Amino acid sequence: MRKQNSAADRFRFFPQLNDLPEDQKRWLGSDSRLYESAAQRFFAEDTLQNRLVRELAAARLLPIKEVLESFEFFARVRKETRATCVADLCCGHGLIGVLFAMFEKRVEHVVLADRLQPPSRLKLIEIVSQIAPWVEPKIENVQAKLTPGDGTVAIGASVVSAHACGVLSDLCIETAIESGGALAILPCCYPKAACQAPQSIVAKLGLKTAFDVDRTYRLEAAGYLVRWASIPSAITPMNRIICAKKKR
Ligand SMILES: C[S@@+](CC[C@H](N)C(=O)[O-])C[C@H]1O[C@@H](n2cnc3c(N)ncnc32)[C@H](O)[C@@H]1O
Repeated sequence: MRKQNSAADRFRFFPQLNDLPEDQKRWLGSDSRLYESAAQRFFAEDTLQNRLVRELAAARLLPIKEVLESFEFFARVRKETRATCVADLCCGHGLIGVLFAMFEKRVEHVVLADRLQPPSRLKLIEIVSQIAPWVEPKIENVQAKLTPGDGTVAIGASVVSAHACGVLSDLCIETAIESGGALAILPCCYPKAACQAPQSIVAKLGLKTAFDVDRTYRLEAAGYLVRWASIPSAITPMNRIICAKKKR
């Protein structure tokens, strides 16, 4: 059965995925490694993004969900967040930051920051370097526990982050406010105890929405203009993007 996707639910980097039957869409949000036969089937066309996906599949490096999540998040926030320097915070493998270095000429420096450095990050950079040699010279790996004002993010740099769990998303917000640069986050895990929204708002809107409404007020109060967007829900139901840019 094919269902018409809403505009927000459509894949932008990989429009070929929009026509998949519903029963095949479950794979898009799964934790299974992207494997070569699927990459040859769905990402065969000779574009830079498809070449990267095929190489990631050949190395069996990342789950399909994390690959699509990174690409579709990037597609929706790149215009507002491209800046000379972009910091991907709590970056894990770092694919989002890598996409900025790969596809945005204006981005000269990408900070990949996380308290850990998984082996997948170095492998990812090695793979990308073979098809986009301009990426590696832009990358700086920072292994540190993030605290706002610790100097990880330069003044004016943009902050991006996917799945900075719970209050790590708030840490990203405070870091962006500190730098004055643009922000884009895809929050996840909403701890009730940390939610600052009034109880009546939580009761009416639910914890996740109330939490993000409160984050929006925090950003607006700090002089930001906030936009909400989303990645396709086939990838994850935790798909809200908070994107913010300082008002002029
Ligand atoms: C759910 S993972 C998200 C990884 C990646 N952004 C993604 O979308 O796959 C959360 C990441 O936050 C990192 N992290 C947790 N606490 C942190 C802290 N205080 N400072 C920096 N990184 C932290 C973890 O090491 C982990 O890589």
